[in-house]
Amino acid sequence: MTKPKVLISQKIFDEAVALVREHFDVDWNESEVPLPAPDLIRRLQDKKGAIILLTDRIDEALLAGCPGLKIVSNVAVGYNNIDIDACTKHGVMATNTPGVLDDTTADFTWALLLAAARRLVEANLFLRSRQWKGWQLMEFLGWDVHHKVLGICGLGRIGQGVARRAQGFDMKILYSDVKRADPTVEKTLGAEFVDKQTLLSRSDFVTLHVPLHPETTHYLSHPEFALMKSTAILVNASRGPVVDERALVRALREGKLAGAGLDVYEREPEVEPELMELKNVVLAPHIASASQETRLRMATMAAENLIAGLSGRRPPNLVNADVWPQG
Ligand code: DGY
Repeated sequence: MTKPKVLISQKIFDEAVALVREHFDVDWNESEVPLPAPDLIRRLQDKKGAIILLTDRIDEALLAGCPGLKIVSNVAVGYNNIDIDACTKHGVMATNTPGVLDDTTADFTWALLLAAARRLVEANLFLRSRQWKGWQLMEFLGWDVHHKVLGICGLGRIGQGVARRAQGFDMKILYSDVKRADPTVEKTLGAEFVDKQTLLSRSDFVTLHVPLHPETTHYLSHPEFALMKSTAILVNASRGPVVDERALVRALREGKLAGAGLDVYEREPEVEPELMELKNVVLAPHIASASQETRLRMATMAAENLIAGLSGRRPPNLVNADVWPQG
């Protein structure tokens, strides 16, 4: 029997590819560079499904051009690269990889927070460029983290992971979200629900864990930075457009904020050039979930979603439940 054809749009782990090959005839773009949109449409023409990465755009034009497509399986929990309504309209299942990257991303949020607060990257560059002359009392003074106020925007799974870790630093935890968390969650985490303005004005560290959609685009811009403490540090490991990058640069330049730790950017892979010049900013290339274990698990989950969807089973992580006959 001939196997259904699927596309793996970019380089992923061999183990996940092997799993997909057990079930399907695989066309694999082994490159780490995303296919240009016309090539992606061309390669999807005869395919029933695809494993895609965050840098692949699945939109109306692509879906209209690939009528045989039944499922797109994203190797990421965020799916702002996929037009979900268009998928639903075309009867295409869209899946993601929730759950497996929460702790890894929470760990990395803390790596950014600590690195920015204690000026670790700046100090590392200073030492490597052989500028260190010996111990000095006033050298590389950063900011204490322990016993400070942490403001978490979005107390979902990742936000909660960040809060759990904050307990070890004896921090006061504030959070804001569209919906108040369950009282038991608040109690376990010792987290106080406040509105966004209160959170911004009271926090020493602000971490962002909201999904990207029209309401959260530029969630932080000029008015919000004006509310923050001039000693505060911002950490963003969610999505770049949640922060108005130009407004952030201005706030940092004008001393309205003490620093930032960023893993994501408004126009990836471009980074606002002025951010590169600021010493009080720690920059990472969207790697918060990038541990060996987690990225392999994400790729395997995406393979499992694809296999289920094309074998008549409901994919475990179906985003647009409306396309499934029983919802
Ligand atoms: C995601 O999964 O959405 C991250 O941004 C990449 O791991």
